[in-house]
Amino acid sequence: MHRLDGQVAIVTGAGTGIGQATAVALAGAGATVAVVGRREGPLEETVAAVSARGGSSFAAPVDVTDAGAVEELLAEVTRRCGRLDVLVNNAGVNVPRRDMSSVTVADWTAVLQASLTGTFLMAHAALPLMRRQRSGTIINVSSMAGMHASALTGPAYNAAKAGVNSLTESLNLGERRHGIRSCAICPGEVSTPILEHRPEPPTAQARATMLQPEDVAATVLFVAALPQRATVELLSVFPTEQRDWTAELRQSRPDESVPRP
Ligand SMILES: NC(=O)c1ccc[n+]([C@@H]2O[C@H](COP(=O)([O-])OP(=O)(O)OC[C@H]3O[C@@H](n4cnc5c(N)ncnc54)[C@H](OP(=O)(O)O)[C@@H]3O)[C@@H](O)[C@H]2O)c1
Repeated sequence: MHRLDGQVAIVTGAGTGIGQATAVALAGAGATVAVVGRREGPLEETVAAVSARGGSSFAAPVDVTDAGAVEELLAEVTRRCGRLDVLVNNAGVNVPRRDMSSVTVADWTAVLQASLTGTFLMAHAALPLMRRQRSGTIINVSSMAGMHASALTGPAYNAAKAGVNSLTESLNLGERRHGIRSCAICPGEVSTPILEHRPEPPTAQARATMLQPEDVAATVLFVAALPQRATVELLSVFPTEQRDWTAELRQSRPDESVPRP
């Protein structure tokens, strides 16, 4: 149960947070993992964490918004490993000035590029190999914000993640006949570095009530290890304790009344 022996995986955004925990979990289940992100330092930390647990991984510094670099990454994985079983599109960003009155066009574009276009580019580059194999699993780390727009995350992030959910459905519509399945995992709040980019970052006390990266990693592993005949298309996972975050929102927008959560 939950073993991926002999399989090959790519995890994007794998230097930190959910991506790092996911790379460790997939490698712990027996997969060889390509650990992708822009900064080499965090990628090497993930590779070291995998090695310390006896797993196999390698760092692949790639910006997922760069179509040429993504194509080269898939060529490299094909050369090194000969196959690709699991692609986890997890890279994503958000910006501090995020509500509709303050988000800039540049920030809107950056958020959409990292989450939505990056997911498209990675899937687009991986599909020819998966089609040849007649098998593959594409897991997209989306967000609860993709199911219900949130004032905490802002319009660019909400739209990007809703787009990721829609892209996941399109992947299943188009690729299931090739034996390829896709899943969007929609976490609620997870205690990771991305939350430091909030206008009002959460306290340590607040973070303690949130999901931890390894909780989402375990969810990814569950989906990846299901028999290939089974597709989970949309899966939400959220903290059991629903904390009250309205004070943080009020602090970041002192002149406005807080909209409904
Ligand atoms: N934390 C939450 O509450 C939460 C909830 C729901 C969903 N999510 C989603 O979970 C995913 C992982 O985020 P996280 O919470 O674990 O935060 P995180 O630690 O900030 O992880 C994001 C990772 O994405 C990488 N990244 C960003 N842009 C990239 C690009 N263009 N190319 C390659 N890598 C890129 C970053 O590394 P580099 O900067 O080195 O590239 C970083 O390692 C994101 O998609 C996020 O939207 C998070």
